[in-house]
Amino acid sequence: MEKIVIQGGARLEGQIPISGAKNAALPLMAASLLTSDTLTLGNIPDLADIRTLSQLLTALGVGLNHEKSAEKTSLSFTARDVYNTTAPYDIVRKMRASILVLGPLLARFGEATVSLPGGCAIGNRPIDLHLKGFEDLGADIELADGYVRATAPKGLKGAVVHFPVVSVGATENILMAACLADGETVIENAAREPEISDLAHCLQAMGAQIEGLGTERLVIQGQPQLHGAQYNVMADRIEAGSYIAAAAMTHGKIEILGQDLLPIMTGFADTLKSAGVSLTPTDGGILATLKRPKVKGLNVVTQPYPGFPTDMQAQIMAMMTLCDGASVITETIFENRYMHVPELTRMGADITVHGSTATVRGVSHLTGAPVMATDLRASMSLVLAGLAAEGETTVNRIYHLDRGYERLTEKLYACGARIQRQKAENT
Ligand code: UD1
Repeated sequence: MEKIVIQGGARLEGQIPISGAKNAALPLMAASLLTSDTLTLGNIPDLADIRTLSQLLTALGVGLNHEKSAEKTSLSFTARDVYNTTAPYDIVRKMRASILVLGPLLARFGEATVSLPGGCAIGNRPIDLHLKGFEDLGADIELADGYVRATAPKGLKGAVVHFPVVSVGATENILMAACLADGETVIENAAREPEISDLAHCLQAMGAQIEGLGTERLVIQGQPQLHGAQYNVMADRIEAGSYIAAAAMTHGKIEILGQDLLPIMTGFADTLKSAGVSLTPTDGGILATLKRPKVKGLNVVTQPYPGFPTDMQAQIMAMMTLCDGASVITETIFENRYMHVPELTRMGADITVHGSTATVRGVSHLTGAPVMATDLRASMSLVLAGLAAEGETTVNRIYHLDRGYERLTEKLYACGARIQRQKAENT
């Protein structure tokens, strides 16, 4: 096991290339199950979650081909010889997003069995909305022995699927399944995250008929089959936002490299600007600097897109620990997503949590400490705090970071951070 050790206080200056988005790549990989042809995905980030889903797809019989150039990795998936429609517990337990194979398997093969993902460090995270959607499309659902088994021997039938709660994963799962259903499916109250439009664009390239991209009403005309395609995964807006926070917290100057980043950062680019962060478009991306001596405290409420993303909540909180005045942060998406609070407090932050609301009073400085987090974004908030803190911070359990930040230490080191991975003794 490894840990990250940071000597805080270095001003970060340089360029950081933004990787392909994990949350776009995972559903795109699952979409490869919808066709017997090859789906080639470019700009795939090299992350633990991508390896986990690759392992699952391989276990189902999907052929996988890896091409790596100096900068980018592309993966080709060929689901011609799928011999297994069961996603086992051993793989699903590592990553909740494994549930995304359920829709494509069910739609193409008429059956799928997937281990229930179970609880998760950031809350209950049930899959009832996914299952309700499949039932609306005519599937029978059985739950037994920790597995969900969905069957539709005569194929899925297009229907109106209304989600009472906005869910990214359920929208993606039903969207993929509907592409091979018989007739028209309307998804109402669909999630509108840019990663969903990315999936829809790829499905269109595979021959799917989808209207309403980017809106809460998706209309899909099912096709008898889809075909192969080549598609590039969109940039990771959460990674971009995390490094912008790093620039602000270290009074640095970081050019975030990637095309068309600002439009997909709707919901938090404005919040960062209101806090005093200047985001200037450049030829290669966005230049991020802090325009004030301290970030300005403000109120942040997490919401489905186009609101402020829950996946940036921990990072904005780390930034607000050093704000001018106070900041009130309300988490409305997940009920247990403040695990970074006690760790930030140990570094000198002044944070009080009441239910889903955290009040963050700005302090003059943070102090390095050994810390550890239990989820991906929480871990990133501790790295950010460590970069700005006085003294040494050790972040343990960094496998969370490896799930979602490609080459994290290299990217920060290249901008002058005093950061390195080391072997951890016992965490
Ligand atoms: C996705 C993202 C995750 C992000 C989250 C919210 C991926 C791989 N992960 O997760 O990084 O934090 O969106 O933007 O893209 N819910 C139900 N029943 C369901 C499904 C969800 O009640 O069947 C609830 C959840 O508990 C949560 C809310 O709906 O409170 C939103 O969850 P959802 O949008 O589904 O998140 P994920 O797709 O799991």
